Amino acid sequence: MKTAVVGLQWGDEGKGKIVTYLSRNYDCVVRYSGGSNAGHTVDYGDFKIVHHLLPSADLKKQKMMYIGPGVVVDLDVLTEEIEQIDQLLPHARSLLRISRQAHVVLPIYKMLDEKIDGSRLSAIGTTRRGIGLSYANRALRCGLRLQDLENPSRAKNFIEELAGIWQIKIDAQEILHELLAKYESIQDLLIDSTNAVRNLKDKDLLFEGTQGVLLDVDVGTYPYVTSTNCSSTGIQSGFAYPVKLDQILGVMKAYTTRVGEGPFPTELTGEEGEKLRRLGGEYGATTGRPRRCGWLDLVLLRYVLELSGCTSLILTKADILSGYEKIPVCVAYKIRGRVIDKLDNLEFVDQVEPVYELFDGWKSLQSVEFERFVAKIEKEIGMRFSHISTGPRVDEIIEI
Ligand code: GDP
Ligand code: IMO
Ligand code: MG
Repeated sequence: MKTAVVGLQWGDEGKGKIVTYLSRNYDCVVRYSGGSNAGHTVDYGDFKIVHHLLPSADLKKQKMMYIGPGVVVDLDVLTEEIEQIDQLLPHARSLLRISRQAHVVLPIYKMLDEKIDGSRLSAIGTTRRGIGLSYANRALRCGLRLQDLENPSRAKNFIEELAGIWQIKIDAQEILHELLAKYESIQDLLIDSTNAVRNLKDKDLLFEGTQGVLLDVDVGTYPYVTSTNCSSTGIQSGFAYPVKLDQILGVMKAYTTRVGEGPFPTELTGEEGEKLRRLGGEYGATTGRPRRCGWLDLVLLRYVLELSGCTSLILTKADILSGYEKIPVCVAYKIRGRVIDKLDNLEFVDQVEPVYELFDGWKSLQSVEFERFVAKIEKEIGMRFSHISTGPRVDEIIEI
């Protein structure tokens, strides 16, 4: 069985928790895109862990983890995370493999990320994790791969060349020295993509998406997106094999959040947004920034479902809305005097006015009101839920 889990909004839908839960039925969890811009919080009950680079495999079940060549690796973050899981569960480290062909995020990328975003007419509000620079340099063919660190003098030349291209002054020797110290501590975990594919292609694999479809570089709210195909479309290239997926599970929150800039039709500013943020604990797991909050948007979901190839849905954080008398859900948009409930593209999404329908609120997820909410959403977007998450802990989930 090959399954993908992707976020259906602007990230932070609860993918990490869902992947941890589902991973019990798979041999290996594969990360195929993004880097340490991702922050996946997994609450095991007795401890909590935030994954930035490590796949969210269930650590207690000894599942394999693989970081594919489509991921960009910040060695500081990676080594810190490995240390953390190793302290929590001895031997966890031995379950990890990392593609030698994955690109390295150099410290200067993070500095340039901030500089570039600050020089734009309208900032994107990146996580400053050097993600855009890593993928840009990869495409420019001046990126440094993990395998390049095997030959320090060549790696130094690469770093010097890069500094020349970006016209910045750096101490290549010092950068290399720091990279090598971290690299040597993970060298035994590296594997060629070809070997990883050989070992894994006939196994049960769970592909863990990062960000959300609306942050995908091709189908998201460009330019307010990340730099990869974080949607299911990035899996083949990010794993370096034309894997055939049996199912694509889309994770959606019962409301919407967004970190960083860009259009957000159902955004709640002021007291209402503050209330949702407080109730949902909506602060970035990577940067700590307050997440922008708003109501569920079915028009965007219809668009995202069509493009992501989702086969079923997983709902998260509906428990956060318990206690609301009425819950507004955006069912259509008004644009230039017309009402539409479907989008062909996201070109004018910054100019629409949401049309809300008020759904009855619920006091608990066992209530008929919640059952009706779920049925109504399924009908509106034409897809069924396979799971409903009922709280932050991994085991707080209902299979339908
Ligand atoms: P990800 O990036 O998609 O993995 O999501 P994040 O981890 O950044 O944010 C989701 C947050 O919601 C985390 O703190 C999770 O522990 C938490 N969470 C996930 N599912 C649920 C749920 O159903 N209810 C509640 N209350 N919290 C949840
Ligand atoms: P997870 O996997 C939410 C957002 C940033 C910014 C834009 C570009 O935890 O859902 P980047 O640093 O990627 O160049 O920033 O994308 N962003 C995320 N928002 N969750 C994430 O990851 C995100 N990763 C990037 O806030 O708007
Ligand atoms: Mg997150």
